[in-house]
Order: sequence, then structure tokens, then C-alpha cells
Amino acid sequence: MSFPKGFLWGGATAANQLEGGWNEGGKGVSVSDICTGGKYGQSKRITPVLEEGTFYPSRLASDHYHRYKEDIALFAEMGFKIYRFSIAWTRIFPNGDESEPNEEGLKFYENIIDECLKYGIEPLITISHYEVPFGLTKKCNAWASREMIDYFMNYCEAIFTRYKGKVKYWLTFNEINSATEKMGGLLSQGILNELEKPTEFMKQVDIPQLRYQGLHHQFVASAKAVKLAHEIDPAYQVGNMMIYATSYALTCHPDDVLKNQQWNRMMNYFCSDVQCRGVYPTYATRFFRENDIVVKMEPGDEEILKEGKVDFYTFSYYMSVCQTADQSKLGGEGNILGGVNNPYLKASDWGWQIDPKGLRYSLNEIYDRYELPMMVVENGLGAYDKIEEDGSIHDSYRIDYLKQHIEQMHEAILDGVNLIGYTPWGCIDLVSASTGEYAKRYGFIYVDRYDDGTGEFDRLKKDSFEWYKKVIETNGEEL
Ligand code: BG6
Repeated sequence: MSFPKGFLWGGATAANQLEGGWNEGGKGVSVSDICTGGKYGQSKRITPVLEEGTFYPSRLASDHYHRYKEDIALFAEMGFKIYRFSIAWTRIFPNGDESEPNEEGLKFYENIIDECLKYGIEPLITISHYEVPFGLTKKCNAWASREMIDYFMNYCEAIFTRYKGKVKYWLTFNEINSATEKMGGLLSQGILNELEKPTEFMKQVDIPQLRYQGLHHQFVASAKAVKLAHEIDPAYQVGNMMIYATSYALTCHPDDVLKNQQWNRMMNYFCSDVQCRGVYPTYATRFFRENDIVVKMEPGDEEILKEGKVDFYTFSYYMSVCQTADQSKLGGEGNILGGVNNPYLKASDWGWQIDPKGLRYSLNEIYDRYELPMMVVENGLGAYDKIEEDGSIHDSYRIDYLKQHIEQMHEAILDGVNLIGYTPWGCIDLVSASTGEYAKRYGFIYVDRYDDGTGEFDRLKKDSFEWYKKVIETNGEEL
């Protein structure tokens, strides 16, 4: 078993979860910076007014801001061919609406890019990953407002121009379809409908109309960014990025099958249909009508969407879900993305159901639909890790998870899917996006930092570090 020559093995992170240095280098406050710590079963909170004495994990995160050289050297030691990271918009435009970019921020990412290139690692940059400038939330409720398109384009122009010739791969919005769910309101779109008081993350005041209008603004911005990138450097390749939750009908009852089709379309395909095909899918019309959503478009938007189709398709893959029309079965544990549990699958300690074969199935489904080159840009097992007295960390559960998913990616390639890269999530431990905790770890590299605010940020190699190194060295032949 071997992967195609030149297959891009690597890892993925995001600025707001890894960097820290939240108020250094001229950086402004992002929506992640106003979220407190939390844990499984105890929601993190959104605090529009920062609270003295409250723990905000994004502030220091894994201190990559000061240790990026050490971290990239470790990635290089594992043999990474590609490294997916995100630029914090607030390092470049601290409030979001400035006319000139912040040089210190631009320089910081230039250093990261140069450090990657030094080791022959291809940078894969997410332009917006869950860190909209909070200044824009306060100014115009962020993506709810059309003004955002111009702010975003200024940001894109600054980074596309600065990193020309050094970067090839860009992604516009991380998990853009997370905004089809309530949780994406603040996280992905910077929309906060109640600015006066703190609220639990999953209890934020939700106005679906604003989220879908916000998505339209993001679609237009993404398409304009694709066009601009190609104008600035024809070698630039711009992809979309979806959270893909493979979805099955719970039973073969036609009502379950239809329910699943409807959920699957709006969750897994609506956004990528717009970004890959350049038009709104017809099925969305009925969904909007039945949910009282009216998406306002301006003249010219449809042309922009057509002209700004993405060059490749990427997605995160952690779990699958089941759908049922039987109301009595709803309301159980389920996965974070809704639906009900699959009786044939086991779940992680955070209730995410593990489904490697779902990855093969999905790769085939998506490739059949778009026939674009694909990358799996997030995948992995969030788990509690234990350090032994000698400093070793035996994470065989993580190795098992990744091994099974890689095997299924290989099957999908044999099925004919043009899969070009794989960047497992949180290749170095970082803060969890959903729960705001350190304890949920994904890394090959352990970071000595804890939810009570202790720890020295030391880096330690887990067993999976040597294992993944071997996987890359043998191009997937030895798992
Ligand atoms: C994806 C996000 O949803 O999943 C990441 O793009 C996130 O930002 C990852 O960290 C894993 O989720 P969590 O909640 O375990 O951190």
C-alpha cells in the first residue's frame, strides 16, 4: 500500500488555538479572545466585556507565537511536506477596518512561511479560521453586514501581495458551513446578537436569517478572493474548507432516507455547491422559504459567484451522524452536529462517533460531485493523554484512529478519488475550539499546559510522533 508520489503529508493548526501572544505585535482582539475556557459538559462562555480573573485559553494558547521555530523544526523532523496554519486577521488589521496593514503582523507570518520553506514544507494558509476581529463585531455585527466584504478584501490583498512567490495554497473560510448551525454564528461569522452580557457558547442568541445572509456575504467574499488571488499570482490555488459530517439514514424507512437527504444537502453540500459550482443549488430555495429566510443579493453577485469558483476542495472529517424522522428518537446524546447516534459505532470521550469507512464513502461522494482535487485538512482524535514518569506519552489510541483513517483514504484513492494531501488536526496540542480546553489533545507533540493555567509550554514527543514520521517516510506503506 503506497500513496501517489508527491502526496502532501502534513498537519494542521489555527492561529487562535495555537499562537497565544494575544496582545503582542500590535494584534487586536478577535472573537476567540473573548471566549473563556470550558470543558466537555460545561460550556465555554462568550464575554463581550473581558472579565478580570477569568481564564481565556486563547490568550497564551500553546505559545507558538514565541516558539514557532522549535515547532516547525519538529514538524520537519516528522517529515511534513505541507503545513496548514491560519493567519490571525487581527494581527494584520487589528480592528479589521484600518486602511493600512500592521507591518509587525505581516512580518510574523512571513517568518513562519520562510521557516517552513527552509525545510521544504509547503505552507497551506487558512485566511479566516474562527477569529473575526471583534472590532468588526462591534462595528457592524461582522458578517451579518455587507461591509465585511470590503474589509475582507483589504485583508486578502495585503496577504496575497506580501506572500506572492512563497505560498501556493490558500483556503478562504475555515468550515464555512459551520454557519448553517447556531454554533457558527460567533465562531465563524463574528455575529453576536447580544453585546451587553456574557452568554454560554451554545446559548448565544441566534437569528438564522443573519447567518444565511452572512453566508451570502462570505460566498461573495470567497469568490472575489479567488479572483483576486489569481490576478495577483496565477500560480495561487484557492480552496474552500468544509466541516463534513457524513450522514446516514438511521433506518431504511423512506421518511428517514428523505430526512437524511435534506439534512445532508443543507449541512454538507449547500456551501460547497455555491463555492465549487458557482451557483446556489435549487434545493436551497425550498429550505429558505420554509424557514422564513430571505437572502438579499445585489446585482452582479451571481456573476461574481460564477467567476470565483474554487480550485480545489478541502474538508475536516472527525465523525459521522445518523438522521431520523422519528421524533421520539431525537434528543439523546448524539454528536455535536446533531442527529442521533449510530448503533454500530463507538464514540470518543467527547461523544464524537468514530467512522473511518465514512471517510472513504465521503471522499467518493464529494469527488463524484465536483471532480476537483481534494485534501483532508483536518482529522484526528481528541483524547486525554497521560505523561509517564519518564516523560513518555503512549497514545496508541491516536495511532489506531489515524491508521484506520489513512487506510480508508488509500481505499478512496484506489476508488479513483484525486486526493492530494492530508493534514491531521492539531499536529501539536492546542486549545479545543468547541470546548475551550487544553485537556482535549490531538497532537503528535504534547504541550505542557493545563486548564488550571499551569504548565511551562514544554514540547514532548508522543509515541504517535515516531509513528507518523514512519508513515511519511514510507509514503503511507508502513502504518
Ligand atoms: C474543527 C475546527 O471544527 O475541528 C478546529 O476547524 C477545531 O478549529 C477542530 O479545533 C476540532 O474541534 P475541537 O472542538 O475538538 O477543538
